[in-house]
Amino acid sequence: MTRLMPWKPALFALATALAACRQPALVPAREAGGALAFDTTDLVDRGRYIVRNAADCGGCHSASEKNPDGPLSGGREFKDWRLGTIRASNLTPDPETGLGTWTDEDIVRALRYGQAKNGRVLAPVMPYDWMHRMGDRDAFAVAQYLKSQPPVRNEVDQSPNLVFKTASLFRSPDNPVAVIVPKRGPTAMYGDYLANHVALCAHCHTPRSGIRDEYNQKMPYAGDASPPKGFPVNPSNITPDSTTGIGRWSEEDFLRTMRTGVNPKGDTLNPIMPWPTLRRMTDDDLKAIYRYLRTLDPIENDVPRK
Ligand code: HEC
Ligand code: HEC
Repeated sequence: MTRLMPWKPALFALATALAACRQPALVPAREAGGALAFDTTDLVDRGRYIVRNAADCGGCHSASEKNPDGPLSGGREFKDWRLGTIRASNLTPDPETGLGTWTDEDIVRALRYGQAKNGRVLAPVMPYDWMHRMGDRDAFAVAQYLKSQPPVRNEVDQSPNLVFKTASLFRSPDNPVAVIVPKRGPTAMYGDYLANHVALCAHCHTPRSGIRDEYNQKMPYAGDASPPKGFPVNPSNITPDSTTGIGRWSEEDFLRTMRTGVNPKGDTLNPIMPWPTLRRMTDDDLKAIYRYLRTLDPIENDVPRK
């Protein structure tokens, strides 16, 4: 291969060098226009709730796939021709191999704008496109929780390929936006915030397409019959369509499914659907999500389980 394409190593070296020079400037970590102003009581508990129950960070960052509740010391591999091999980072506060030297703002910047401490734009495997609109209090709560964990030493290397390195030359991190976080409660409005920007339901349940594998904005929550590699089953259509979605489910059906991992048809859901962690969300939060899902357009899209 190398003999046939002698230019390839040179191009690789060039892209690497250019990517290193063109490290974008750090974007501000906070919401646009915002001075930090939030209630800091129980911030670590709120962060734990988001990281461990709602956002399933452990689904990617935990050391072992079998234990999403274990240490978030990273290493899990994601392979894709657009990216090369990207590994989930070590999120424990180890000073050399984890987030030990990152400030809260550095962590928030990574969550919301996909930018690492050194300015590098993170691979979009990390769902920052969805966390872009996580509110300041929640984002800083996540940062504080991560820093409260015991440090674990685990060096995680990244092996991006030429395609990703070249694409990175043209990418900049997103800019801060002003976020309005609705009041917490069992309302569709709060459910919209949770499902899209905290619990990341949209990140798995919205189909992706095209050469850049982008989310199909016209089919939110319609399920994905060709999910990223490694998914043992297809994310379901959870729009209110009555034949191909969850239109016939009552709120009770929904809560029972989220809590037991068994849907009204009696299928036991594969744990890639993070019900073993989502089940710990509060009744009100799950109701909020159900009420929000009911407000979506029903989309007819038959997604076979596999
Ligand atoms: C779908 C998998 C996935 C999920 C879910 C996910 N991440 Fe990530 N995350 C990654 C990957 C992969 C990287 C490495 C990207 C890179 O280095 O280009 C990453 C990078 C990061 C970084 C940057 C760390 C560094 O050293 O550069 C932080 C901070 C982070 N994730 C926090 C979180 C938190 C907190 C959550 C939950 C709210 C979360 N992630 C959910 C896959 C994921
Ligand atoms: C990591 C990806 C992922 C995330 C995040 C995720 N899901 Fe799922 N979900 C799936 C997959 C895959 C299935 C299909 C499981 C199966 O068929 O065994 C599924 C199935 C479901 C089902 C069952 C549908 C049916 O017809 O049986 C519901 C309901 C559901 N998810 C709701 C949610 C909600 C609400 C959230 C956010 C709080 C969420 N999911 C987050 C991947 C995910």
